[in-house]
Amino acid sequence: MKATCFILASFDHKKAFQVALWSIWVSGFLLIALSLYAMQSLPSLEDHIKMPKQLHQGFANLTSPKITIFSAPDPLNAPPGPRQVLAVRSWLALSPYITVVLFSRDPSVVVFARAFGSRVSVEPNIDFTFLGTPFFHSMVARSWASTSDISVLTDFETILLPDFISTLSYAHKLDYDWLLFAPLRSVFYFPFRLDEAGKHWLRKDGKRIRTQKMQEFLAQSWQWNCHEGRMLMAWNNRGLPLHTGVLPPFLYGKGLHNHWVINEALSSELRFIFDASWTITSFYLKDLDQWSDRLVEGYNFSNIKNRSWENVGNSHLGALYGSLYFLGVNYSNLVKHFKCDGQNLFVNTAESISYSFEHQSSLRLWKRRILHPRREKKTMECIHAITSLERNMDCSVKHQLDFSSPLYLPFSLESLLSVIADKNKTIVLAVAGYSYKDMLMSWVCRLRSLLITNFVVCALDHDVYQFSLLQGLPVFEDPLAPSDISFDDCHFGTKCFQRVTKSKSRLVLQILKLGYNVLMSDVDVYWFKNPLPLLYSFGPAILVAQSDEYKETGPINLPRRLNSGFYFARSDDTTIAGMEKVVKHAASSNLSEQPSFYDSLCGEGGSYRLGDNRCLEPETNLTVHFLDRNLFPNGAYQNLWEKKKWKSVCSKKDCFILHNNWISGRRKKLQRQVLSGLWGYDISSRMCLQSWQKTKSTSYF
Ligand SMILES: *[C@@H]1O[C@H](CO)[C@@H](O)[C@H](O)[C@H]1NC(C)=O
Ligand SMILES: *[C@@H]1O[C@H](CO)[C@@H](O)[C@H](O)[C@H]1NC(C)=O
Ligand SMILES: *[C@@H]1O[C@H](CO)[C@@H](O)[C@H](O)[C@H]1NC(C)=O
Ligand SMILES: *[C@@H]1O[C@H](CO)[C@@H](O)[C@H](O)[C@H]1NC(C)=O
Ligand SMILES: *[C@@H]1O[C@H](CO)[C@@H](O)[C@H](O)[C@H]1NC(C)=O
Ligand SMILES: *[C@@H]1O[C@H](CO)[C@@H](O)[C@H](O)[C@H]1NC(C)=O
Ligand SMILES: *[C@@H]1O[C@H](CO)[C@@H](O)[C@H](O)[C@H]1NC(C)=O
Repeated sequence: MKATCFILASFDHKKAFQVALWSIWVSGFLLIALSLYAMQSLPSLEDHIKMPKQLHQGFANLTSPKITIFSAPDPLNAPPGPRQVLAVRSWLALSPYITVVLFSRDPSVVVFARAFGSRVSVEPNIDFTFLGTPFFHSMVARSWASTSDISVLTDFETILLPDFISTLSYAHKLDYDWLLFAPLRSVFYFPFRLDEAGKHWLRKDGKRIRTQKMQEFLAQSWQWNCHEGRMLMAWNNRGLPLHTGVLPPFLYGKGLHNHWVINEALSSELRFIFDASWTITSFYLKDLDQWSDRLVEGYNFSNIKNRSWENVGNSHLGALYGSLYFLGVNYSNLVKHFKCDGQNLFVNTAESISYSFEHQSSLRLWKRRILHPRREKKTMECIHAITSLERNMDCSVKHQLDFSSPLYLPFSLESLLSVIADKNKTIVLAVAGYSYKDMLMSWVCRLRSLLITNFVVCALDHDVYQFSLLQGLPVFEDPLAPSDISFDDCHFGTKCFQRVTKSKSRLVLQILKLGYNVLMSDVDVYWFKNPLPLLYSFGPAILVAQSDEYKETGPINLPRRLNSGFYFARSDDTTIAGMEKVVKHAASSNLSEQPSFYDSLCGEGGSYRLGDNRCLEPETNLTVHFLDRNLFPNGAYQNLWEKKKWKSVCSKKDCFILHNNWISGRRKKLQRQVLSGLWGYDISSRMCLQSWQKTKSTSYF
């Protein structure tokens, strides 16, 4: 990524649009270059197959692999219903060594999981969109960090039968890194249930039924629904990635991501990849009234349910990250796993190649062309019998990745606010341009980890708008934003900075007038804990702001010490009148908005000061309260950014925030924040840093 930054730095920064596309393209090309390099330096699958591989791991616990099944409930269908209960029970019935991890932030899912005991847990610490849809790349990374022998990722409604466990146990014995997949089939009718103990499947009359009988029943009625893209994937967890390169931040369940992984895994040739559709019985029950409308807490969610923009987002990402505009996986040409006469076979039927697993001397795969169809007759017949059961099973995709359809979140500012605001009708507002996108993400990650969800992002340019959308943020575009925000040079003191800050107060005023209280926070403000309850407690007609006073003693309301990068304004008439004064003043001033705040609300030279920490604007009666500098320190106070001084000082003083201001230049600011450890975003993988991740160095400088 070093090279990326270098190339970026030499661009004409005024063309932020091109920079945005280029940054993604350039990193895409680099990744391709890297993966080509990596492929050359890695032995190919052929080599693996020909040369017996040394056993690194020794024999794992061969009899009973530990398996973790990862899945994500649909955020719109919470709480989970009977179909999901049946699915999870079918998983737990397979083996006592199966555990389940559900990605969700919905409390009803926690309740759901609790009913199953300790084997089912909920993982909220991955990335979600503001509507609760989990990010697929974050799910994969989390399952990656799992300590189980095998990780499985599947749809939340997947019902599994016991052949799943025999196939996985078999694959577990391969001295090989593998990735298996099975597109899910659907059935409308499945008249079986698990007994109380969750061990045996029963018929309607309560009698036990054998797996084979159920499979015969299913074979009559089930269908492949490849276009829905529902799939089960499983891989052994010995440290080898599934593919080279970076998985784009796809949204889970919005199409494309499963095919993408298989496509990339195939071309990376790191693992043995096979289709286990014939040896794993996995399916889901089709429900006809799945999309019935649902009102949540009085909000009309019907337009939110229309998430066509999320699907468009995945397609966009595919195109942005793709080495090609085209994603094509011909599933007919892949290796399939069969079981014939109790023997496990891996066969590429299209190319008549079989791969076998030799027990005797070493555990390895070897590849063999089926040279004598006659000698292999029995095998071929068996395979033919299995595959001919279902003719229409080609799940091949040829996806023209669509880069041209507009990526736009169909929400107005009003509808976004109504969804986002907390119960006190308060929102947190961040305003950012593309040059601050990583800082924005670090800020967002921090708020997410504090479980603060009522924030909204105003995009100053279209690139940061698209970027935010793809990162699942609630974002709107400021139609009046200045159009030429330069990439590196829009920092304190510049003309650009003046204009950008002025759009902030204008936006705050607009939102106040819509009836919402606003905590305006710059993205370079690090939040230690949620300040909202404290800020709210000051009451109406008081604007609460950070002080920019750098001295350790004396008044904190001296002239021009009001920091407009962190303040709380309530939606009452007095505050609105005060903010109107500020916006008017700023419009006619050729300084940044910060002096306008002070001069309008505290009087020029501080003539409206009250005591050491307040002002009272006489026309509107708006009080300004300056926040305690020990609880809300600015970037100059006590040098807290230096040598991680914040660690000792802020834990003693119980700081709420720390502002990364009083430093000039975007890079210096970034550097200071990354080095201080108050950084929450991994730029290369586009994910929030989580405790389950191994600490990655942020390759920024
Ligand atoms: C295999 O794993 C199971 C459960 O994890 C454990 O009870 C058993 O002792 C293990 N066997 C060996 C040989 O490690
Ligand atoms: C929700 O909004 C849709 C269109 O935006 C409208 O057709 C529908 O009647 C609304 N439902 C309720 C319950 O307000
Ligand atoms: C969903 O929104 C898209 C664009 O915003 C629109 O074209 C489409 O008709 C909508 N679909 C439904 C079912 O409302
Ligand atoms: C996939 O490959 C098979 C065999 O090579 C071929 O017959 C089939 O037409 C291909 N399917 C697609 C969609 O390209
Ligand atoms: C919301 O309002 C209540 C009562 O006015 C207050 O106690 C609470 O702290 C407020 N919450 C936030 C997050 O501001
Ligand atoms: C704005 O700047 C110009 C020159 O830079 C100066 O002459 C003028 O007085 C300034 N206006 C205000 C309102 O500060
Ligand atoms: C401000 O307060 C003074 C004294 O309480 C009052 O006379 C005046 O009407 C108030 N002004 C406004 C705009 O509310």
